[in-house]
Amino acid sequence: MDKLSSKGQLVSFDLDDSAMEAAKNIKHENFRFIKTNFSKIDEFIKDNSLTGVLIDCGVSSPQLDEPQRGFSFQKKGPLDMRFNQKQKLTCKDVIEKFSEKEISTILWKFGEEKESRKIAKSIVKYREKNVINNTLDLAEIIKAAKTIKTKKHPATKSFQALRMAVNSEIENLSVCLEKIKDKLIKSGKLVIISFHSLEDRIAKQTFKPKINFYEKDIPLKHQEVLDEFKISKIIYPSTEEISLNPRARSAKMRIVEKL
Ligand SMILES: C[S@@+](CC[C@H](N)C(=O)[O-])C[C@H]1O[C@@H](n2cnc3c(N)ncnc32)[C@H](O)[C@@H]1O
Repeated sequence: MDKLSSKGQLVSFDLDDSAMEAAKNIKHENFRFIKTNFSKIDEFIKDNSLTGVLIDCGVSSPQLDEPQRGFSFQKKGPLDMRFNQKQKLTCKDVIEKFSEKEISTILWKFGEEKESRKIAKSIVKYREKNVINNTLDLAEIIKAAKTIKTKKHPATKSFQALRMAVNSEIENLSVCLEKIKDKLIKSGKLVIISFHSLEDRIAKQTFKPKINFYEKDIPLKHQEVLDEFKISKIIYPSTEEISLNPRARSAKMRIVEKL
């Protein structure tokens, strides 16, 4: 913050009420907090003048630690999982109203949950006669449905998948990255910290070299590779960082530079 010059602006986007409250402690005339989806970045940053962007994907520690937000399978809370507390769709809607097929697709696509079909079937069977009241009820149903045992809590992948679906995380990230592509200045950098292979894949896809094919001397096809961006290899947290902050263990960071 001290390094912000009189011209430089620092803008932070988040959907969360608690993030907005925390941002109130940052008192700097060039800092602005905008409570909106980062996929709408173009509504707030009109010109193509971004020098740097940091995207820290997913859910935050305070959200996970607050049972009332419904992100935790270890603490009893409502089936909520919304980043934006004004959004209509909650995890309860997904669990109560989505079809077995839709639930199993979510678990498979966003959670890479091998037992997605079994879990979806159990949820639907349970809800025919009972109400799934809270996060612990849901975690129990998932645990009972699974036969493959792993070191992680059996509901880890399913909870992650449901959260990603409730918040349309992959869709929003994809839209945001496409907009940032244009808005970065030459030599401008994007740092993206992702926690899911789909997030990293989208970043790689968005900034990969463009290949233009054109016909020169028929039948020979020529191709021209346009490197608009340089994208780094994945940077992983050090063991020291993981011991200080275990939640960093699945983080993958990439740096993208506009050429
Ligand atoms: C990993 S946390 C970042 C935490 C932050 N770096 C910090 O240290 O406090 C991700 C944050 O991104 C927010 N978020 C996720 N998707 C978003 C979106 N599409 N638009 C705006 N904010 C989003 C979440 O509400 C959450 O607070």
